[in-house]
Amino acid sequence: MSQAAPKTRHADIFVGFKPIDDLHHEFESIVEALNDPAEADYGEHLLALHEHMLRHTALEEQYMLQENYPHYTVHKHEHDRFVERVADMRRRLDAGDIDAVRHYAAELMGWFAAHAHNHDAPLAAFLKGESGGR
Ligand SMILES: [Fe+2]
Ligand SMILES: [Fe+2]
Repeated sequence: MSQAAPKTRHADIFVGFKPIDDLHHEFESIVEALNDPAEADYGEHLLALHEHMLRHTALEEQYMLQENYPHYTVHKHEHDRFVERVADMRRRLDAGDIDAVRHYAAELMGWFAAHAHNHDAPLAAFLKGESGGR
């Protein structure tokens, strides 16, 4: 089990569509706070992450529905799994499982970069009229 949180390659999470990139900036600061060893308040940061993700996924889903995006179902499924996982981590923290939360926090940016690359970037290209969504 690796102790060092992998350094995020931040450029990987930006997709070139401002309303989505603004959300991704916000996500990045919450995850940075969650991974700051000087910060012990996981409860507060997980709550911020949960609230953020509900807003973040709702906005992307609204764009997808408005523009009849062809990959809505698979993208929304990933969002739902993500939001469920944050809720699960909040329950685990309440149960005292700090290790699970630390592990989750360390993996979060890698997961998110993959989501941004595989799902948000094609959506951004579609919204800018650059592609059929893939
Ligand atoms: Fe996103
Ligand atoms: Fe997304």
